[in-house]
Amino acid sequence: MPKITYVSAAQAVQTIDVPVGTSVMRGAVSNDIDGIVARCGGNAQCATCHVFVDPTNVDQLEPIRPNEEEMLEFTACTREEHSRLSCQLEVTEALDGLTVHLPDRQI
Ligand code: FES
Repeated sequence: MPKITYVSAAQAVQTIDVPVGTSVMRGAVSNDIDGIVARCGGNAQCATCHVFVDPTNVDQLEPIRPNEEEMLEFTACTREEHSRLSCQLEVTEALDGLTVHLPDRQI
């Protein structure tokens, strides 16, 4: 099962085994990781699952689709170069070792 590491804004590090076919957001919510709100439940309609993908991992990701691109304009913390919506990051074996950094607020 792919391991995903979540780093809080306070630099707390948690590495979780996340099932293939779920999402980086679901991995956080299912394991009570603070910092992901996910108000819309994963439908790319709230931008409260914003994460900053570690620069070393960006090549592991699928490109941003138009609806994700649009919602990234509504994040509570300023969008950065490697910002993504974690609900749109489907977990595959290719994401093993992914690290995401959580913003200090989602709302
Ligand atoms: Fe709402 Fe990701 S959970 S946009």
